[in-house]
Amino acid sequence: MVRDGIAADRLVARLAEHAEIGATPDGGVCRLALSDADRAGRDRLVAWMHELGLTVQVDRIGNVFGTRAGSEPGAAPVMTGSHLDTVATGGRYDGVYGVMAALEAVRRLDELAVTTRRPIVVAAFTNEEGVRYQPDMMGSLVHAGGLALPDALDTVGIDGTRLGDELVRIGYAGDLAVGAIRPHAFVELHIEQGPVLEAEGLAIGAVADLQGISWQEITVEGQSNHAGTTPMRLRRDAGAAAAEIVVFVRELALRFGEPQVATVGRLRLHPDLINVIPARATLTVDLRHTDEAKLQQAEAELAAFLERLAAERGLTVKSRRLARFEPVVFDQRLVRTIEAAAAARGYGVRRMTSGAGHDAQMMARIGPAAMIFVPSAGGLSHNPREHTPAEQLAQGANVLLDVLRRLAG
Ligand code: GLV
Ligand code: MN
Ligand code: MN
Repeated sequence: MVRDGIAADRLVARLAEHAEIGATPDGGVCRLALSDADRAGRDRLVAWMHELGLTVQVDRIGNVFGTRAGSEPGAAPVMTGSHLDTVATGGRYDGVYGVMAALEAVRRLDELAVTTRRPIVVAAFTNEEGVRYQPDMMGSLVHAGGLALPDALDTVGIDGTRLGDELVRIGYAGDLAVGAIRPHAFVELHIEQGPVLEAEGLAIGAVADLQGISWQEITVEGQSNHAGTTPMRLRRDAGAAAAEIVVFVRELALRFGEPQVATVGRLRLHPDLINVIPARATLTVDLRHTDEAKLQQAEAELAAFLERLAAERGLTVKSRRLARFEPVVFDQRLVRTIEAAAAARGYGVRRMTSGAGHDAQMMARIGPAAMIFVPSAGGLSHNPREHTPAEQLAQGANVLLDVLRRLAG
């Protein structure tokens, strides 16, 4: 294994430079998938890939791959990477850290004049966040054959745009067939986005599994009417019903106990006026659990609640699935390789479960996959104040470097 590691200052400089793309005044980043900022972020990545002498390919869903050649003709590559898109209130590390650290790992291998047997591919997947277009992890899902390309391209975003049109508009509708690159293994480096590593004073998480994700959009239809003249008993108030759903999912999660989580992150009322009873409410529910049976139970209880609510309040309640992924167990050998690489460098390491969704979860469908986590200060993520100190960023990148070298031979 490589003993000396990546250059922390160069990694930090790359991250800082990339964070200027889509920078928000509060110190965060907004690079929604297939937006102009996403295009600029991709352009910067491609330029950096070329600087490193990587062969750059873009597939039909816009996934970007940069390949460092190996010595053995035809050997399946080791793939690493993550995503460049962010939520609208994103931080400077979610996704982009795994891609930039991969570039630094490649640069270090070049400096050390290391030739690996297998090629190493640095990947940046399209639309991991799923904020503008659902489902999330879309680029890696399409790559892994879990979503047909035409269906992905026909996805309509929350702003009414068609994904395929936006992909063409930003110039990233590539010509590589989706799924063309079949990796020998996939390893993704990412910030933890939670509080565990920091609380335990550990540098590295070897991610052994990842919880299941259930996303749905619920639309409640009632009747708008005058807020002053309509007695409470005669109302069909979609807004009040939405509030009951918010409380129900929170209480469901508390009743189920950890690791069940439930979130209503989006809620819109129509007509959204102070003195008009809402005629319509549209809200999203995000349910997650490590146990598929528990996740199904949560979904079933919510569905039964929605039926009761509709009947009791004289409303129409409809639900539309936006994303559904079962929990994933990562490749145990790969997890052990990550643990061993961290231990060999003297870094504190523990196995852990990912609460967030990741591209590695999709890549696990087609081959061995696992993840490396580094701490998130204060456990904050999907927040402009997302932060990981430089030393910890470098430690994660060093583990990635060593694991890549081990896997690529
Ligand atoms: C993706 O970041 C998710 O876990 O929602
Ligand atoms: Mn991410
Ligand atoms: Mn994210």
